Order: sequence, then structure tokens, then C-alpha cells
Amino acid sequence: MRQPLVAGNWKMNGSKADAADLVNGIKAGAAKVQKAEIAVCPPFPYLQLIEGLLAGSNIRWGSQDVSNESDGAFTGQVSARMLKDFGCTYAIIGHSERRMFNAESDALIAKKYDQALAAGLTPVLCVGESLEEREHGKTEEVVARHLDAVLEGAGAKAIGLGVIAYEPVWAIGTGVTATPEQAQEVHAFLRQRIAAKSQAEAEAVRILYGGSMKPGNAMELIGQADIDGGLIGGAALKSSDFLAICAAA
Ligand code: G3P
Repeated sequence: MRQPLVAGNWKMNGSKADAADLVNGIKAGAAKVQKAEIAVCPPFPYLQLIEGLLAGSNIRWGSQDVSNESDGAFTGQVSARMLKDFGCTYAIIGHSERRMFNAESDALIAKKYDQALAAGLTPVLCVGESLEEREHGKTEEVVARHLDAVLEGAGAKAIGLGVIAYEPVWAIGTGVTATPEQAQEVHAFLRQRIAAKSQAEAEAVRILYGGSMKPGNAMELIGQADIDGGLIGGAALKSSDFLAICAAA
């Protein structure tokens, strides 16, 4: 059985004080969460603070991105090894906001995935279609391309060592959530695509849903057969909402 994972992606929000408040709030309520694994992904500058607050707890933390290079003259980038040094378990890779605003390609994302794995991090590979792509019936084509960037290169074993997050771009920060049926359909498609290479890895890999997941819709979404948790944006910024989603998983 796959343990559900609920991860908060804080994006570029908050201050040092906000980060401490939020994580202390999550810590205080985490004991009531029975089943789900909990993780938070703060902005890079707050990782050390979060490491200090969460070390020794069951809550894990991760980054929102990672460099595609291992080290050297790459101004402004943060390596997977550095993230490991700050106790990160996870690294979000290929988020649609980075694909959009930083022009990240599938090839670059595949390199980031490799870097994360090589450093002992668990990559969280984001895939998802835009509204236009969905309306043109291209959802499966797009998520297959995003997945194949890793599946065809690094292979099914590498996919099995990571986590996938299906985040339809049209549902991110919009308040419009994919229906449980819409989400399940894509999750099942992704799992079948992995199963075509390795049944074992397909059964083991966790596929999270992300896109306006809230306490009110989390249970139904995560209740679907192929939805193994959530990658939460807006609702991860309030500890009570985030904990309610964790409890629903
Ligand atoms: O990575 C999480 C995400 O993009 C979903 O954001 O605000 O719609 O929950 P949100």
C-alpha cells in the first residue's frame, strides 16, 4: 500500500517569522494526522530555519527547485547536494510556474531529476496541461511528454524512486479544482504508462494531485484509486487548512 503524501509548496510567500509560525502550527497539530506523510517546501532561504524546527519530527521538508548542475560556476543556482546538506528529503522539479516563467524544458527538468536522485533526494516531478491543451484534447499527450522526459531517459526505476505530481495548470491558484473523475483519469493514465515499463514501479510510485486542493475537496480527490496525496499551494499557507488536508488523506 502506498502511504499518502501531503506536501505544501509555499512558493515565494511569507517572511522568516511567517515560516516559523506556519511550521510550528503544523508541528503542533501533526500528531492528529494518522496516515499521511507530511512535508513542507519553503523558499530556499528558510530551509535552515525549517531544518532546525523540524529535525527529529516526522515532518519532512524539501525545496521547490534544484540546479541541473552538480557544482561550480552557476551563479544563483542551488545544488542537490546543498539541499541534502540542509536535511531536505524532497525537491520539487518541473513545476509549471518554472516551466512557464523560467522557460524550463523537459530536457532541463530531466537533468534536475537526475541531480536530485544522485544526491539522495526524492524528486517530485510535476506534470500537467494548460487549459488550452485540455480544451484541444491534448491532456494525455502533454502529461505523457512530461513523464517521458524522465521515464524514457532515466527509466522506470528512477520514476519509482521519485514522486509524481499531476498539476493541471488551469487548476493552480484558480479555485477551480479538477473533479475527482478528471484527476483520477489522468492519474490512471500516468500509472498505466509507467506500468508499460515496469508494473512494480507503477504500483509503488506515489502520484499526487495539485491544483486548488482544499480541506473541502481533499478527501474525495485523495479517495480516488490512483491519487496518493496532494501538492498544496495556497491552502498550505495556513496551518489549520494544511493539517485538515493531511488529516483527510
Ligand atoms: O504546487 C502546488 C500548486 O501549484 C497548487 O497550488 O494554490 O492551486 O493549491 P494551489
